[in-house]
Amino acid sequence: QPRWLSRQDGVLHAEGVSLADIAQSVGTPFYCYSASELRRGYAELTSAVGPLGVAVCFAVKANSNLNVLTEFARLGCGMDIVSGGEMDRALAAGTPASRIIFSGVGKTRDEIGRALEAGLHQINVESAAELDVVAEVAQSLGRRATVALRVNPDVDAGTHAKITTARKDSKFGIAIGDVPALYARAAKMPWVECLGLAVHIGSQVQNLSPFRHAWAALAGLVRQLRAEGLTVTRLDLGGGLGIGSGAEPGPDLAEYARIIAETVGDLGCAVNVEPGRWLSARAGILVTEVLYLKQGDGAGFAVVDAAMNDLMRPALYDARHPVLTVHAPRGAAPLPCRLVGPICESSDDFGSYADLGELKSGDLLAFDNAGAYGASMSSTYNSRALVPEVLVDGDRFRVIRQRTGTDRLLQLEQPGPWTGAPSA
Ligand code: LLP
Repeated sequence: QPRWLSRQDGVLHAEGVSLADIAQSVGTPFYCYSASELRRGYAELTSAVGPLGVAVCFAVKANSNLNVLTEFARLGCGMDIVSGGEMDRALAAGTPASRIIFSGVGKTRDEIGRALEAGLHQINVESAAELDVVAEVAQSLGRRATVALRVNPDVDAGTHAKITTARKDSKFGIAIGDVPALYARAAKMPWVECLGLAVHIGSQVQNLSPFRHAWAALAGLVRQLRAEGLTVTRLDLGGGLGIGSGAEPGPDLAEYARIIAETVGDLGCAVNVEPGRWLSARAGILVTEVLYLKQGDGAGFAVVDAAMNDLMRPALYDARHPVLTVHAPRGAAPLPCRLVGPICESSDDFGSYADLGELKSGDLLAFDNAGAYGASMSSTYNSRALVPEVLVDGDRFRVIRQRTGTDRLLQLEQPGPWTGAPSA
C-alpha cells in the first residue's frame, strides 16, 4: 500500500482525508494527488543527486496541472517542457525562466521565438534543420539562443517499444556520429551559443545499465568535442527513471546517482536530469466507481465509470496499475475480475485483478501510480468529461481542476463565419 494512502476505520484515506468523502463531494471518477508525497519525492531525489550538483527539472508532460507544478516550483525544481503550452504552465507556476529547458523534436518557429523572448535556460536542438531555424529566429529577435544538442546514442532502454527513444531508428535526437560536425557548426553561429549535450533514452527504465551506456557515450563525446577545441559546459541526462509497482521495488536511487557520478562526474559540467514519472506517478491515484458487475464467458467483469480516455496507459502500453479498494477488503472473490470502462472499444480494459475481494455496484476503487501520464494524457473521447483533479494536503483537499462537461466543450464548437464563396 502506497505511503500516503492508509486505512482508517477500514476506509482508504489520502493523507488525512477519506476518499469516500472526496468522491461524495466531487463525484467520480477523479484524480487525487498528495501534496506531501510530491514534496517527499522531490526531497528524496534531490538528496540523492543534489550532492553531485545535479539540478532536477520536472518533465511537465507527466503531470501538467498548474497546482502540481506550483508545488514543485516552490521547492526550487526546474521544468522540462516540450511545447508552448507547457512553457505557459511552467511560467504560470512561478518557475523562473532560467530553470526551464525546452525539449522536443518538433518545436515550431513560434514556440522557439516565445522561448527566446521568455529567456529560457536552454533549447535542446534535435536536428540540423531545427538548429538553422533557431539561429534564424534568434537573429530576427536579436536574442542569442542558448542551446544543447540532443544526442541519439543508439542505446536500447529496455522498456516498452512505444516509450523507447534512443535507438538509432528512433525519431529523436541527432545520430551520435553526426554530432561533432553539427556542434562545430553551431559554435560558429553568431546568434547561437551552443553549450552542451542532452540525451533521453526512454521512459519507465527499470534496469539502470542503459543509462550508464548512454551517459558514458555522452562523456566520450564531451572529451572528443573538447579535444577539437569546442566548449562543453552543460549536460542534460534526460528523464526515464522508472518506478516500482506493487511488490517490485524499482530502481535504486543511490545507484542512479552513482552512475551519474561515474560517467559524467569528472567533466566539470553543469548537469541536470528531467524525471517526470519518478516525481509524480506515485503521488496520484484515479478513483472510480463500480457501475455494474457482469458475468462474461470465463471472466467476471466489473464495469467502472473511469475509462481509457481518463487513463490511457493500459490501452496504449498494456500498463498495469495496482488497484486498491476504498472500502475495507471483503472476502476473496471466486474469480479474478476484469475492470473495464464504458467506452465502446475492447481496449477500454484495465486488466484482470484477482485480489480485490468480492465487489458490489457502488464500490469505489483506486488505480495507483496514476499521478504521471494519467490526467495529462486524458481526452474527451466518447464526449466524456475531463475528470476533476483534487489535491490533498494533510487533512484538507481542494479541487485543482474542475470537471469539464459538455457545455464548455460545445462552446468551443460554436461555428465561426464561413470563408469562401457559398456553393451554388
Ligand atoms: N525528457 C524527455 C525529453 C522526454 O521525452 C521525457 C518523456 C521525459 C524527460 C520524462 O520521462 P519520464 O521521467 O517521465 O520517464 N506516456 C508514457 C511516457 C512517455 C514519456 C515521453 N517522454 C507513459 O505513460 O508511460
